[in-house]
Amino acid sequence: MIASGPATAAQARPTGAGAFFCGAGLHKRFGGVQAVRDISLTVPRGGVFAIIGPNGAGKSTLLNLMSGLYQPDAGRMIFDGVDLVGLPAHKRVRLGLGRTFQKIRLFKQLSVLGNVIAAFHIHHDIPAWQYVIHGAAFERDHARCRAEAIKLLDFVGLEARASVLAASLAYGEQRMLELARALATSPRLLMLDEPAAGLNAADVERLVERIRILRKRGMTIIVVEHNMDLVMKIADRVLVMDYGQYLFEGTPLEVQANSAVIAAYLGA
Ligand SMILES: Nc1ncnc2c1ncn2[C@@H]1O[C@H](COP(=O)(O)OP(=O)(O)OP(=O)(O)O)[C@@H](O)[C@H]1O
Ligand SMILES: [Mg+2]
Repeated sequence: MIASGPATAAQARPTGAGAFFCGAGLHKRFGGVQAVRDISLTVPRGGVFAIIGPNGAGKSTLLNLMSGLYQPDAGRMIFDGVDLVGLPAHKRVRLGLGRTFQKIRLFKQLSVLGNVIAAFHIHHDIPAWQYVIHGAAFERDHARCRAEAIKLLDFVGLEARASVLAASLAYGEQRMLELARALATSPRLLMLDEPAAGLNAADVERLVERIRILRKRGMTIIVVEHNMDLVMKIADRVLVMDYGQYLFEGTPLEVQANSAVIAAYLGA
């Protein structure tokens, strides 16, 4: 198993036996900015793995590499035994990698329910022509998606808002709709980029509860978050990044007590 931490190019080969997600020697540069520098991580199955660090540390870029939004300049990634590098984002979703975005991405002119139904389409296995003429298989599939979407809206607390336009939701509600949309893709590994941003304390509590329920159901969750209260409550492991690089990895208590982590945050 590879350990999280600096890896040389020679070590950039994930072996991660038993790991659910394994990345090694990941690099990503944007022009003059080295957003991710030699990051390696091993995420075990079935827990909550947090990624924290000051603004600009490279956390979202790391998620973007994992989800396939960007391809790394170097490094390897294995998800449940499948080599991810080169695989486009939509294929990773089908493998079971789901995510939400820090900058919310919704169909603003669709209803809340319509947004979740649209996210189900990744798992439709009906012939494409049925979408055009709305055949019997389409109608059955649509009814099933609608029922599942209502269940997901219930789970995230938006059932009463199902028929309003997504654009009319409050910011915190939009975050919950993002979560419902990610869940509609049936992820086995769910990546959440700042799910608590803009939520009030009561909503953060509800989010913590929902993440706990998902973990109990066997989902593996990676959460990028600035809300330390949330991280300390739900994370099993925490990876700390700073300036694109590995700074520390440990349990929430170890992270809280680590002087390099404290210095990075005070510096920020
Ligand atoms: N698409 C991009 N093009 C150019 N630069 C980028 C791009 N994405 C990220 N960066 C840069 O890479 C660095 C890391 O950004 P990233 O968004 O990954 O940080 P972060 O840890 O998620 O920060 P925050 O906590 O503010 O969300 C930053 O300097 C950022 O400006
Ligand atoms: Mg970010």
